[in-house]
Amino acid sequence: MPRNLYAHFRLYLLASLLLDVKATFRNFTIDDSDPSWVYGPYGAWNIGNECHGCDAQPEAELVYNQTWHDAAFYAPPNSQTMAFPNEPFTANITFNGTAIYVFCIMLNSATYPIFGDSDMIFHMDGIPVSTYQNTPTENLDTYTYNVPVFAMPSLEYGLHRLMIQNGVPNGTNALILLDYIIFT
Ligand SMILES: *[C@@H]1O[C@H](CO)[C@@H](O)[C@H](O)[C@H]1NC(C)=O
Ligand SMILES: *[C@@H]1O[C@H](CO)[C@@H](O)[C@H](O)[C@H]1NC(C)=O
Ligand SMILES: *[C@@H]1O[C@H](CO)[C@@H](O)[C@H](O)[C@H]1NC(C)=O
Ligand SMILES: *[C@@H]1O[C@H](CO)[C@@H](O)[C@H](O)[C@H]1NC(C)=O
Ligand SMILES: *[C@@H]1O[C@H](CO)[C@@H](O)[C@H](O)[C@H]1NC(C)=O
Repeated sequence: MPRNLYAHFRLYLLASLLLDVKATFRNFTIDDSDPSWVYGPYGAWNIGNECHGCDAQPEAELVYNQTWHDAAFYAPPNSQTMAFPNEPFTANITFNGTAIYVFCIMLNSATYPIFGDSDMIFHMDGIPVSTYQNTPTENLDTYTYNVPVFAMPSLEYGLHRLMIQNGVPNGTNALILLDYIIFT
């Protein structure tokens, strides 16, 4: 083929290759309000942005899509305040990809307006793979947004089941304010 055309062809190949790589590794955000989430036990999570009785009240403007899910695990002996005493909260989602990142909102308080302690376990395809714990010691009553609580950047490409567990039976108090996940 003519030299000029050949150069064009090579450029085209290079461009399509680059585009292909970009298309192969693309991030998608799934909001906590997405219908593909399964939250449990039934009715135990609060839709934080609609929950006026919830103690944790972050600023909606700073939250992805202005929505979040709120669940407070009260450890024994206070667990009788829960509808399902001593039962951890779970949020399940299935995604098709090679990486996953979970983002939460953190309450920087020990006790007021509620405990800001975190105690999460992340299960991938049924196997516990990671934990996130945090114990605020002051009562700042402020929030930190977009906190990465879980990252698994190199998964085998395909369908994966993520389960986020908030609280551990007979463990410690644990608050979760789930905002969104990103998967690649
Ligand atoms: C996807 O998002 C994560 C978390 O923000 C980031 O670390 C990663 O580099 C992103 N990957 C791509 C392909 O944009
Ligand atoms: C944002 O939240 C609303 C519910 O308040 C939901 O219907 C909508 O799908 C969400 N948008 C995105 C991009 O997730
Ligand atoms: C999430 O998945 C696990 C494992 O399959 C299951 O035990 C748990 O009940 C599920 N949670 C919800 C809310 O469906
Ligand atoms: C994952 O997505 C890719 C691209 O859309 C598709 O070809 C593949 O069949 C999907 N895998 C599963 C297990 O759904
Ligand atoms: C929690 O502790 C109580 C009292 O020690 C015990 O009876 C119960 O089996 C424990 N539950 C779990 C899930 O470990």
